[in-house]
Amino acid sequence: MTKRVVLAYSGGLDTSVAVRWMIEEWGVEVVTVACDVGQGGDFEEVCERARAAGAVEAVVADARAEFADDFVAPALKANALYEGRYPLVSALSRPVIVRHLVNAARTHGATAVAHGCTGKGNDQVRFEVGIRALAPDLEVLAPVRVWGMTREDCIDYAERFSIPIAATREKLYSIDDNLWGRAIECGEMEDPWAEPPAGVWSLTVPSETGTEEITVGFERGVPTAIDGVPMALHELVGVMNRRVGAYGFGRLDMVENRRVGIKSRETYEAPGALALIAAHQDLEALCLERDLAHEKQRLEGRYADLVYDGQWYSPLKASLDAFVDASQEFVTGEVRLRLSPGSCHVVGRRSEFSLYDYGLATYDAADSFNHADAEGFVRLWGLGIETWAANQATKREA
Ligand code: ARG
Repeated sequence: MTKRVVLAYSGGLDTSVAVRWMIEEWGVEVVTVACDVGQGGDFEEVCERARAAGAVEAVVADARAEFADDFVAPALKANALYEGRYPLVSALSRPVIVRHLVNAARTHGATAVAHGCTGKGNDQVRFEVGIRALAPDLEVLAPVRVWGMTREDCIDYAERFSIPIAATREKLYSIDDNLWGRAIECGEMEDPWAEPPAGVWSLTVPSETGTEEITVGFERGVPTAIDGVPMALHELVGVMNRRVGAYGFGRLDMVENRRVGIKSRETYEAPGALALIAAHQDLEALCLERDLAHEKQRLEGRYADLVYDGQWYSPLKASLDAFVDASQEFVTGEVRLRLSPGSCHVVGRRSEFSLYDYGLATYDAADSFNHADAEGFVRLWGLGIETWAANQATKREA
């Protein structure tokens, strides 16, 4: 029986060439799997291209709702920002694609799974570690990493085998898109000093000139409504991208540390993600008890690192999810965001579980705080330092 390989297929140049190349060089049958994670585009055309390249089967999976509910929502609850900034756009989509690849391998009797990543990036790590976590029996293949073809060679190869590709000979940018945002690399931006050309932006092109407010409703840490209108998370993120992006908010330009040891200049657009994380962090400030809030913040960076490093399906990540979920029990309420050109910030928050106590906080007549308690508390709080100061501080060698 001919060996079957399931390929993570985008419809782009590399993965289209990979279909034919694996058939020619390795004598395998190829089943392509294209996942809709909100990147847009015509999946009919993607399937036709896969078949034209020689795929025996071209699968399309609408993974938008699943991506939002099972991947974006946990990351948002964890306020996951790699290196404090990047909302893990590409890193989050890989594990959902992995899930579909493994399912397709089972359904279509494949013994191997392939991806079209190069050897220099993070995505190979996420695909391979993810596949090995879910299906240790499947072989993992990385044709692009071994074929030694340049972009020009790939275009020639596609022409030779009549694979209909849209790519042009001048390489522009490497773009990865999904509902959580957009990553744009390469071209002029490989010089970290050079400003990204205006043409790279598409989700954050400013069109609004005034000011408006958006109210985001959260239930247990997950956004469920905009301006009081309930909606599914994948739709809600789309609405936020459009409304916040129209103010030109949500761009990132950063030098980032890849898992494979390379520093790279990366640009992103994630208007919805950055607005929702800001709103969620703010609601947590109102609803989380102090120690819980501080410990959660300490773990958030670790969580982001795990996702970035391809450890989505790891026991530590699962355990951190359990902690994060427990922390979100009372993170229910609303946050008001004000949008104006280039900015999006929180102007108000409220919750039925708010820990903000007006009587304790106010300086006016409604004050219910017992001021007499403060005296003894502060004295004991400083007692150790006072004792040290009296006995040692003055005796220290200069
Ligand atoms: N640097 C980002 C990450 O590792 C984005 C990767 C984008 N991938 C791409 N094919 N352009 O998550």
